[in-house]
Amino acid sequence: MIKKGNLYFPTKEFKKRALIKSAAIYKTAAKNPIKFWEKLAKELLWQKKWKKVFSHRPPYFKWFVGGKLNITENCLERNLEKRKNKVAFIWEPEPIAAPNGRASPSKTGREERERYFTYYDLYREVNKLANALKKLGVKKGDRVGIYLPMIPEAIISMLACARIGAIHTVVFSAFSPQALRIRLQDTTAKILITADGYYRKGKIINLKQNADKGVKSTKVKKVIVVKRAKNEIPWQRKRDLWWSDLIKNEKEFCKPAAMDSEDTLFILYTSGSTGKPKGIVHTTGGYMVQANFTGKWIFDLKEDDIFWSMADVGWITGHTYSCYGPLLTGTTFLIFEGAPDWPTPDRWCKIIEKYGVTTFYTAPTAIRMFEKYGIKLLKRYTFNTLQILGSVGEPIDTAAWQWYFKEVGREKCPIVDTWWQTETGGILITSLPGIGPFKPAFTGLPFPGLRVNILDEKGKSLPVHKEGNLVILPPFAPGLLRGVYKNPKKYLETYWSQYGKRIYFTSDTAYRDKNGLIRIVGRVDDVIKVAGHRLTTGELESAIAKHPDITESAVVGIPDEIKGEVPVAFVVSHKKRKAETIAKEVREQVRKEIGPIALPKKVYLVEDIPKTRSGKIMRRILKRLFTKEKLGDLSTLANPESVKKIKEVIVK
Ligand code: WT7
Repeated sequence: MIKKGNLYFPTKEFKKRALIKSAAIYKTAAKNPIKFWEKLAKELLWQKKWKKVFSHRPPYFKWFVGGKLNITENCLERNLEKRKNKVAFIWEPEPIAAPNGRASPSKTGREERERYFTYYDLYREVNKLANALKKLGVKKGDRVGIYLPMIPEAIISMLACARIGAIHTVVFSAFSPQALRIRLQDTTAKILITADGYYRKGKIINLKQNADKGVKSTKVKKVIVVKRAKNEIPWQRKRDLWWSDLIKNEKEFCKPAAMDSEDTLFILYTSGSTGKPKGIVHTTGGYMVQANFTGKWIFDLKEDDIFWSMADVGWITGHTYSCYGPLLTGTTFLIFEGAPDWPTPDRWCKIIEKYGVTTFYTAPTAIRMFEKYGIKLLKRYTFNTLQILGSVGEPIDTAAWQWYFKEVGREKCPIVDTWWQTETGGILITSLPGIGPFKPAFTGLPFPGLRVNILDEKGKSLPVHKEGNLVILPPFAPGLLRGVYKNPKKYLETYWSQYGKRIYFTSDTAYRDKNGLIRIVGRVDDVIKVAGHRLTTGELESAIAKHPDITESAVVGIPDEIKGEVPVAFVVSHKKRKAETIAKEVREQVRKEIGPIALPKKVYLVEDIPKTRSGKIMRRILKRLFTKEKLGDLSTLANPESVKKIKEVIVK
């Protein structure tokens, strides 16, 4: 990489190899973004061409109107011509660990070999499951729940749904049964695909048991179970089916459903401001085009690349860059089970070296964790296959950026810091690797064709260096959400109310530098990013409110060295309870309602929570008790004395 001032640029050699190397693409795209996307769409396989590229009836819009396609034909058939026996993806299972914590060969008979799926293998597996789902009565438009760990069947399941036009809803495998139930109820899914169990840090997680709890009081009629960990599981003879039995005699071809460009491909839930998560709706045609070209250009995916995105399929990153994006581009990608730092802290390095990973995509929280283990560990690795590094999920601070750049990228890999959201379906802001510039802590430039702006509260465009609200302007991007499932009001309120129905409000604040590079500062709503996972204070508070002894609670995100932010909870009880016991119970309550990712770091039992005279909880003040910021004027509070008392509880 070449350094000029505080900016980094790709070297000549790097540029030579890059798919996109001329900044002219920005100009061409900006002239007519609709035409730009149309040209790209033509490179993919359509059963019927669209009549209109973009139509807009604020706050609703459509892309490739009238077009017909099946995304799996693009992920599979399109690749069979040229790369039938090329590896589509590799699965790396969690290794066995000896008692001293080091990875050791299996003596337990546990399956621990990596698995490779060629495009042809994947094609056959997807078709078989698609046929099986059809036999179970799954029809176009039906919702199918997928509650699977990082195993190949997760990818096969998503594609099998898409093959027959069923809508998949993937639920992160570490979510609690209660969180699963809410999603199954909202989508009224009749089928759930799950597994017996999976490995995480040497332990077996009994997923089937959780699935059984989760399907209670839902419309689920059949549960398909993948055998992964061979652990003992509860079984309901009339309802449960083994995956292997189900597909055994199925044909290796299933006709791909003709999907309308605007038919729903999947629903993925993300945190809502209250206890109930929002079902983000993504459609087929636009999502495909965006997933393909953002994946291809941002990660510079070429024929011989090995792309590793660490994200779980339970998140949007897993959907777009551990499934659809790389498959559309015909790349070989990698998925892994377990944790990147177990059984040894350098497991992730070993994976990079074992497969010669060329593009590595992770989150700042993981980077900070790797950094904490110390660089001594890294000396053994050359990382000489790496060409591009990626970051996603939260702002990457300068220190983490520099460490990643130097210690992992060895100063030769561009870092694509990619900004996007569950709602945007694919990456929207990042500098392109063959062009740059890259600047620590800045996410970069809007993707070609994307119009964004930074506005003040009144909607006035802000000059360079002024922080304001990040918005996206028409024609947006083809993969932007089309709705919140069964909740048009929420769609309108959350995204299209701040500045009217023609401007998409991201809920992020940002500013630009003089080069036009964008720096994301943070969220303006009550979202907190815990190890890159999106949670809201409201959903934690609703979970806590279900505890019978708790009258009131407030949750805030406080800075954390590794996780970026962690939740802490303040609770008021109407009963005389011991602080430690109630703290334990509250954490248990959160685990039960949401899952371990949302566990508050601390729970403080307090007498009163600071509020305004109108009764609004002042989370801002609670948060400042943990940062260096001044508390500010407390006289506007209805109960200023509560703050002093809370301070005493915290220092204890
Ligand atoms: C929010 C969306 C999109 C995949 C994972 C997150 C924050 C995301 C960045 C980045 C700074 C980022 C934003 C955004 N965010 N990427 N590169 N730099 N902030 O998806 O869970 O829907 O969260 O994550 O605040 O709005 P998500």
